[in-house]
Amino acid sequence: MSLSTWALRAGYRGLRAGMFRYAGGDAERVHEAMISLLAKAPAGARGRVADPITVAGIRFPNRVGLAAGLDKDGLAAQAWARFGFGFAELGTVTVLAQPGNPKPRVFRAMSSEGIINRMGFNNRGAAELAETLRAKGVARGNQALGIPLGISIGKSKVTELEAATQDYLTSLRLLAPYADYVAVNVSSPNTPGLRSLQAAGELAELLGALTGEAAALSARRPVPVFVKLAPDLEGTDLRETVAVINDSRVAGVIATNTTLSRHGLLPADRHLADEAGGLSGRPLTARALSFVERLAATTQLPVMGVGGIMSPADGARMFDAGASLLQLYTGFIYEGPALVRGIQELRRPL
Ligand SMILES: Cc1cc2nc3c(=O)[nH]c(=O)nc-3n(C[C@H](O)[C@H](O)[C@H](O)COP(=O)(O)O)c2cc1C
Repeated sequence: MSLSTWALRAGYRGLRAGMFRYAGGDAERVHEAMISLLAKAPAGARGRVADPITVAGIRFPNRVGLAAGLDKDGLAAQAWARFGFGFAELGTVTVLAQPGNPKPRVFRAMSSEGIINRMGFNNRGAAELAETLRAKGVARGNQALGIPLGISIGKSKVTELEAATQDYLTSLRLLAPYADYVAVNVSSPNTPGLRSLQAAGELAELLGALTGEAAALSARRPVPVFVKLAPDLEGTDLRETVAVINDSRVAGVIATNTTLSRHGLLPADRHLADEAGGLSGRPLTARALSFVERLAATTQLPVMGVGGIMSPADGARMFDAGASLLQLYTGFIYEGPALVRGIQELRRPL
């Protein structure tokens, strides 16, 4: 780690102590305050061009992105390039605006460097995100905010599972003009039944419809569709899911979402183990890594590696496992922008 990145890390650690105590330690209120602050940040920063790569026809200035869920409504979309990210995945949004689950619904497992969340896709809806991005000057491919933007779409809670495809299709139509790629979220544990869409039959129908619609919207240059998987998918189920993905026209896979397992929670955080929701961060590191290794062995498609990347070394291991691009959520909360830089420095000293 360079001296300046080390200093950035130390500075963030100092800030973090106060940040984590703000609002009586209510993680969601801290998050909301941070997003409101960043929403006011001026646009104009270019993504740090270190280690550029072209994946699915998209030119990424670097390989470290912001994971979905942190800026669901894109309110701070123009801020992410400033932190050194090479792309940002906004969302998850649903067709219908929805409040999400009752609060509290996000918990910091401090000793374990993890987060348990059951947000439940709280968001302002796909049309509102489209309008927010339009107002910021974003159009697909124009990198108006300095970096490519992915948009994650999910199923509205009130939509029956049988009608899920139509729900995703409506979001795709609304958002395709603004997204450099669309991520299909079938792996959140916090919308009842959502993960059943990862099963081979359901997934084949959903991905077929979405990639078909993407081609219908723009035959010459269909928006690339990525699919995001849960780390709890194993054995035959995983093999069948990957087979469907390999037979589809999706552009790549994002692995992984949060886990339902509580493995890796340290004794000091055991009181949180019974909180419903998905676990992320350090407790997920080994599971996400081995998932990406298994995935990379069974698909030729590009993989975005996400889950428990808490240090530059974790990032390097995720690349070694076969990921072309990385995404950060919990590591960014605990380590700040120094993690984004530190990972890039390991690949190519700045
Ligand atoms: C509070 C919170 C909200 C999240 N919301 C979403 C979401 O809306 N869509 C999604 O695909 N993933 C969501 N995630 C999952 C992250 O994008 C990521 O896949 C997961 O946390 C593992 O990465 P990490 O260990 O770096 O956090 C969320 C994670 C957290 C902690």
